[in-house]
Amino acid sequence: MIKNILITGGAGYIGSHIAELLIKKKKKIFIIDNLSTGHRRLINRKAKFLLADIKNIKKVRKFIEKNNIECVIHLAAVLSVGESEKKPKKYFMNNVTGTSMLLKSLKNTNVKNFIFSSSCSVYKDGYQKVTEKTILRPKSVYGKTKLLAERIIMKYCKKNKLNYGILRFFNVVGASPSGKIGQINKYSDQLFKNLSIEIVKRKPLFKIYGDNYYTKDGTCVRDYIHVLDIAEIHSKVLEKIDKKNKSLTLNCGYSRGISVKKVINQFIRNSKHDVKVKILKKRKGDMSKIIADTTKLRKSIKWKPKYNNLSKIVKSCINWEKKL
Ligand SMILES: NC(=O)c1ccc[n+]([C@@H]2O[C@H](COP(=O)([O-])OP(=O)(O)OC[C@H]3O[C@@H](n4cnc5c(N)ncnc54)[C@H](O)[C@@H]3O)[C@@H](O)[C@H]2O)c1
Repeated sequence: MIKNILITGGAGYIGSHIAELLIKKKKKIFIIDNLSTGHRRLINRKAKFLLADIKNIKKVRKFIEKNNIECVIHLAAVLSVGESEKKPKKYFMNNVTGTSMLLKSLKNTNVKNFIFSSSCSVYKDGYQKVTEKTILRPKSVYGKTKLLAERIIMKYCKKNKLNYGILRFFNVVGASPSGKIGQINKYSDQLFKNLSIEIVKRKPLFKIYGDNYYTKDGTCVRDYIHVLDIAEIHSKVLEKIDKKNKSLTLNCGYSRGISVKKVINQFIRNSKHDVKVKILKKRKGDMSKIIADTTKLRKSIKWKPKYNNLSKIVKSCINWEKKL
């Protein structure tokens, strides 16, 4: 059984939830984060933390060797689709070169399993639902960096006999009921975060980026998954790839498409004030619609969603925002 797990980006939104769950499951958690978008208050007190960049091979390798790390959950990345279009170099350097350098620091260590947070943005836009075999054609620079990183990981793991889990997250939302962790980073341009920031104001203004997409109500459609379900998937995938000594690529969503307008209406139901809704131009790089086919996920790790109630998800986001 795996005990010592390193989480890169463990001071971020998703990493802190994975750390919280794995610590509950009696794992020893080690975190490397450069705190570029992460926060000290999200670092679990029971985890051992190293302030470092994943590109610092020497420092990372020393930490891995010293703590006898057996598994790496690699989340450290920059992730705003909009920013990636404006600053492609930053995205390639951090997400692609960063991943390559992290892999270099694993060489000849005891790491046997590697889990990577990929994204639905690696797929071609416009499909009803995507399986893991759907054509890969990222629309955004961010998606391109995730796909390149996937390929580098697969190649490295095959060559060096590591098991990998490539997890293509759809849109991750919600916050832990512990009330201690949630999304802090305001700049990732994520719908639930933007709406949560607005709704706690006296005069909330909700922005819709484009209402003439080829979808039922004209706004973008996404498959939103609660961060605690994402954390549970990590725990199960880790067990599976380690036990069976195999690798997996999995879509992580609920197989449920929700439009921006529907999310906005759910937030409005929770607002004490009048909400203004403003329609803005489409953003470059945004896909019109993306929904996961999760047949493989459900079968291969015997997983069922636990936190998929939209109204509860919205409430958990608002409660967290009020605490900030
Ligand atoms: N949030 C989503 O909806 C979503 C969807 C698909 C994929 N993902 C992926 O999940 C991962 C985590 O996302 P998140 O939402 O928790 O974002 P986040 O910004 O909260 O977390 C990323 C963490 O990585 C750290 N980091 C970034 N670059 C680093 C580097 N070079 N060295 C060390 N640390 C570094 C940041 O400080 C931060 O703590 C990312 O890889 C992202 O691409 C997220």
